[in-house]
Amino acid sequence: MNQKIVVANIGMKFGMCHVEGAMSYGAEIAAICDKNEENLRFAGERYNIPEEKRFTDYMDFINDPDINLVTVAIPDQQHVKVSCDFLRAGKNVLCEKPLALTREDLEEMIRVSEESGAKFMVGQICRFTPAFEKAKELIESGIIGELYYVESEYAHDYMKLCDDWRADPKRHGVIGGGCHAVDLLRWLAGDPKEVFAYGTHKLLPMVDYDDATIAIMKFDNGVAGKVFVSTGCKRDYTMRTVIYGTKGTIICDNTSPTMTLFTVDEEGVTKEPQTIEIEVNNHNAAREFEIFAEAILNDTPVAMDAREGAKTVAACLAIVEAATTGKIVKPDYNF
Ligand SMILES: NC(=O)c1ccc[n+]([C@@H]2O[C@H](COP(=O)([O-])OP(=O)(O)OC[C@H]3O[C@@H](n4cnc5c(N)ncnc54)[C@H](O)[C@@H]3O)[C@@H](O)[C@H]2O)c1
Repeated sequence: MNQKIVVANIGMKFGMCHVEGAMSYGAEIAAICDKNEENLRFAGERYNIPEEKRFTDYMDFINDPDINLVTVAIPDQQHVKVSCDFLRAGKNVLCEKPLALTREDLEEMIRVSEESGAKFMVGQICRFTPAFEKAKELIESGIIGELYYVESEYAHDYMKLCDDWRADPKRHGVIGGGCHAVDLLRWLAGDPKEVFAYGTHKLLPMVDYDDATIAIMKFDNGVAGKVFVSTGCKRDYTMRTVIYGTKGTIICDNTSPTMTLFTVDEEGVTKEPQTIEIEVNNHNAAREFEIFAEAILNDTPVAMDAREGAKTVAACLAIVEAATTGKIVKPDYNF
């Protein structure tokens, strides 16, 4: 067993988070890569990566025998191709969300990751956001009783973010960004079994898809849910999330330093709310990297593997289909 993590980071925009995650873990950085020379130079200088470890083409280090963890943070349309190239080369891969944009690509990613014998993790980073980790812990403690309704939202202004690959209709806002809120609800309440949705388009003239979508969903055990996605909203980024149980309620967010917990007294009457202070760490790349590195070093299973990432996208695809057809859709989780 290799006792050390030696990493290659691909994509030097959001992917710089992964360089920082690797550094905070104490991993050795063998390569950083970006096909844009300016972005590569900026990251190289920022993190003091020597010139000989900077690459514009990942094929130049794909077979480096020392590298045992590769992070992939490039446009969503390329996730499957690049991740699968590295998996086939025997490398463990941490790839950004969403896993893929089409059913065919989801299936390909699952097939290759399972055949490769290497480990794969999809970066649904909200599972490491302190407020959401705390919410999960509170739910599991039983303090809010049995869940009956969960809602989350992904509201983010893409006015300046809509480059070509984000404007691609396959990269619908529900899949590209909304996957965070959908994945969060799946993590907290299980897989939605049925979804219905409406979309509107008033904010982003440069895209051909709805820039706001509201989906309602039915989970097992009598739990109902809602996801709101707006990729043109005129406000700060938020993933406000409210979790209703039979004995209490949790209100939390990825961008707020406090969360609110309501509980009940012996007679079932709502008590004064508790305010819980919480670290704001919307992109907890250090924790995400650590979890994956430990799974590699200890040869333990990865919770957010390709199947798990594919289920989140399957639920997102069902929402887009429901909004397009006006019909209730049952997400297909059979891969
Ligand atoms: N987890 C999150 O909250 C979060 C936030 C932002 C972005 N993301 C994801 O991260 C990924 C990248 O997003 P971004 O905002 O950095 O995009 P971006 O377009 O700003 O940057 C992508 C970078 O990848 C480089 N690149 C493209 N193809 C490449 C290739 N084949 N080889 C090497 N470099 C290549 C580009 O030159 C560019 O520098 C996307 O999948 C996105 O969905 C996740």
